[in-house]
Amino acid sequence: MNNQENITIFTHPLIQHKISILRDKETGTNIFRKLVEEIAMLEAFEALGDLPVHDVEIETPIEKCKTPKLAGRKLAIVPILRAGLGMVSGVQALVPSAKIGHIGLYRNEETHEPVEYYCKLPTPIEERVIVVTDPMLATGGSAVDAISMIKKHGGKKIKFMCIIAAPEGLKRLHEAHPDVQIYVGHLDRELNEAAYICPGLGDAGDRIFGTK
Ligand code: PRP
Ligand code: URA
Repeated sequence: MNNQENITIFTHPLIQHKISILRDKETGTNIFRKLVEEIAMLEAFEALGDLPVHDVEIETPIEKCKTPKLAGRKLAIVPILRAGLGMVSGVQALVPSAKIGHIGLYRNEETHEPVEYYCKLPTPIEERVIVVTDPMLATGGSAVDAISMIKKHGGKKIKFMCIIAAPEGLKRLHEAHPDVQIYVGHLDRELNEAAYICPGLGDAGDRIFGTK
């Protein structure tokens, strides 16, 4: 793992192996979807390592003991539609009681700027740890806007998880929201002129949902 303040770039071989299969243009929708879920779970295991806990009293078959359980309001998972949806089940597998919000954004194909079309978040949002998911951090426009929307609704403790990032997007997101903890499965080389990540994996939404 490669850490600087509020940025974690994973180097774990299991994550890297799964990302390599995702990149392969021959990988079909079924396997692609399953791998996105698995990578999200592996990333979330690390990203949620600082969740608050408190001791509760439990009676085991042997004796009573004080033992830690998750404390505070339930976690919120907020996928950026559409592709972020593919990561939700992986995070939810670790925290089944998490509430799910949704933020709808798509990139205008000419300007590459995000266009917002939906926002529904669990309330109250202020006290929750919020995990925003999107497999691709390209120019960073979608992630920056999604997190601004969440902050406008009162969200404070925000983590952003992606599978592949471009250096341009990572820089833009970190500069716009330095308080947000960012988790990146792999940092790729650059964006091309169409603002696609190189080498990347193509259009994540289309590959998860089998559209073109
Ligand atoms: C993709 C991806 C991100 C965004 C990243 O979504 O899932 O949301 O692009 O690009 P950016 O960092 O330059 O903003 P897309 O707009 O293709 O919408 P979709 O998920 O509905 O396919
Ligand atoms: N969105 C994607 O799905 N892929 C990219 O490479 C860039 C943005």
